[in-house]
Amino acid sequence: MDTTEFASSDFSGLEGSILFKQNYMSIANIVINQGGTSSGKTYAIEQVLFSLACANEKLVITVVGQDIPNLKAGALRDALNIYYSSAAIQAMVKSFNKTDRVFEFHNGTIIEFKSYENGQDAKSGKRDYLFVNEANGVDWSIYTELALRTRKKVFIDYNPNAAFWVHDNLIGKPGVQLIISDHRHNPFLPQQVRDKIEDLRGVDIERWRVYARGLTGKIAGLVLSNWHVCEYVPEDAKLLAAGLDFGFSNDETGCILVYKQNGELWIDEVLYETGLTNPDISKRLTAATISKSTEIVADSAEPKSIEELKRLGWYITGAKKGADSVKNSIDILRRYRLNVTRQSVNLRNELASYKWKTDRSGKTINEPVDSSNHLIDPLRYVALNKLGANKLNKTKSWLPQVNASVYDFAKMHLLN
Ligand SMILES: Nc1ncnc2c1ncn2[C@@H]1O[C@H](COP(=O)(O)OP(=O)(O)O)[C@@H](O)[C@H]1O
Ligand SMILES: [Mg+2]
Repeated sequence: MDTTEFASSDFSGLEGSILFKQNYMSIANIVINQGGTSSGKTYAIEQVLFSLACANEKLVITVVGQDIPNLKAGALRDALNIYYSSAAIQAMVKSFNKTDRVFEFHNGTIIEFKSYENGQDAKSGKRDYLFVNEANGVDWSIYTELALRTRKKVFIDYNPNAAFWVHDNLIGKPGVQLIISDHRHNPFLPQQVRDKIEDLRGVDIERWRVYARGLTGKIAGLVLSNWHVCEYVPEDAKLLAAGLDFGFSNDETGCILVYKQNGELWIDEVLYETGLTNPDISKRLTAATISKSTEIVADSAEPKSIEELKRLGWYITGAKKGADSVKNSIDILRRYRLNVTRQSVNLRNELASYKWKTDRSGKTINEPVDSSNHLIDPLRYVALNKLGANKLNKTKSWLPQVNASVYDFAKMHLLN
């Protein structure tokens, strides 16, 4: 592996973290960045890629993600931030093609952002540098085909929710470097984001280990595993309602639309944003072309916000929460196949980390972790108000029967 390219790079106008330095200086063939949330992994690796691109002619650099919406919300957004924050880089870049997602440099180098369907698909093209962003969303078969066709170096990053092919096949092998980071390595993070990450310690220790410390978690205990990615909501699906969760400074305001078709639910993310006032929410709903006659089921813990949106003309009701409503709504959602649109990146992230709580000894408790649920909670609200009643009645009507049969059993076998 040739490192002279790094030394000769004309890297100006950017501030790097320690992670940048480590990735930049690495002489490994494969540099793995495992880390907690917001440690600066993606940003640092892309700064390295940009500096390589500026310093070297005719390189092909490929950034790969699970799919295009994921890239847009993550690696591509970071890349555009880097690009816009450096006049030096802007001077080196000839064009950015938004449709094809390619930066083309004056020196003939390109940085392309791509996703692949399968291993076969990934056989097309060769490159000098490869960056696999959020690698736990990319199949091993895709990775191997891409890595085979990479001449110089591979960078990988991910949050270690659970062990996957990186742990099974790469870490510990010769030429592979593992860098573990967390938010403390990112000096560019606002204190309130840091506090929110550290607060996870009080929410769920397992989640804190993964997201605040970058340590590998265990997959056990996912609350909803009955969800799948779909491309779009079928045209003949019936809109049940929108679900809305209020956030503000630290927590996102989340909104989803829930549809039903053929006994399956179809869910589309509408809104996931901090800092929204109620008039802002109203504007966002209008912009998302939600009709004023669409029922919105919102968090009933905020009657004032509900009333405010009602006065702005929305058809909004509070979720019928009650004792056990969290567990009940999860039970309802588990009865359906949940189809989540590909563009619902934040909902997909929440579902993939929606876990049962663990106690100090690591045993799961029958209660989901109360964090990263700003889109899952609205989904539960819709379940409670729009799917709950008849199904729950049915469940209730079984109860006496169950009791009766237990009684019958006891009568037959014990009382005689
Ligand atoms: N070198 C940097 N300069 C400016 N901002 C940075 C830098 N590194 C990280 N950041 C900020 O920190 C945020 C989180 O970094 P990111 O790379 O997305 O984290 P990760 O990929 O580890 O989750 C970025 O969105 C950006 O705002
Ligand atoms: Mg990232």
